[in-house]
Amino acid sequence: MKKYCIIGAGNYLSDIFDIIHANNGKVVEIYHNAPESENTRGISIKQRIDLLDYDVKYYRSLEKFVPSDEYRYIMGLARPSKYELIEKMKKKFKINFDILVHPNAHIGSNVSTGEGTIIAPGTVIAPNVHIGDFVIINRNVSIGHDTKIGNFSNVGPAANIAGSSKIDNNCIISMGALILDHIMVGSWAIIGAGAVVTKDIEGGMVAVGVPAKPIKTNS
Ligand SMILES: CC(C)(COP(=O)(O)OP(=O)(O)OC[C@H]1O[C@@H](n2cnc3c(N)ncnc32)[C@H](O)[C@@H]1OP(=O)(O)O)[C@@H](O)C(=O)NCCC(=O)NCCS
Repeated sequence: MKKYCIIGAGNYLSDIFDIIHANNGKVVEIYHNAPESENTRGISIKQRIDLLDYDVKYYRSLEKFVPSDEYRYIMGLARPSKYELIEKMKKKFKINFDILVHPNAHIGSNVSTGEGTIIAPGTVIAPNVHIGDFVIINRNVSIGHDTKIGNFSNVGPAANIAGSSKIDNNCIISMGALILDHIMVGSWAIIGAGAVVTKDIEGGMVAVGVPAKPIKTNS
């Protein structure tokens, strides 16, 4: 059985559990180390852990963290700002993070994936795609041939990114967004849910609608 330790925890935690279980693994330790979501309509991290039918060691902070060769490490935060925690973990503890791919994802030929990336079920990735480090590719995403997804970016459920596109680092492509082929989305941009992106989007912008138009900067 593969033993997993999750560093950082947010709303994506239950999905991470699911992908770990689908890879014949179990969660052994979780270091929460992030503020609880202020959204009162969700469930807490503790409740998510309690839904597992086995014991997991849960720590609120990293105070007691000691790296172990026995564990595979997973980054539990989904937002692009997680890069700060990753830098800290690498500098202080010199740990490497695992890549986690659900067995029901289809990964095409010549696809490369960086450290710490997580790919959820139902996703289809066409040939020659490069996915950077610590990217989240959520459920039922489609990524076309020769596309590049930058480090720390997050692609939401059922987003559809056409071929030969480039999504830069630290972007959020929200659920159900459509990105047409040969489009470039600059770093730290956010594409809103259901947007249809027909033209390049500058870095640091929030773009929504059909066709997508920048409405503000990403604060
Ligand atoms: C784009 C987004 C990040 C903007 O969030 P925000 O900064 O809080 O923006 P606001 O809610 O203040 O919206 C600003 C304006 O854009 C509009 N807007 C927001 N999201 C929109 C969207 N996806 N499509 C069209 N219009 C949108 C709002 O109606 C509002 O318009 P108004 O000023 O006329 O009232 C957010 O709306 C969104 O799409 N989030 C994605 C959620 C998601 O994919 N969740 C899945 C998690 S797995």
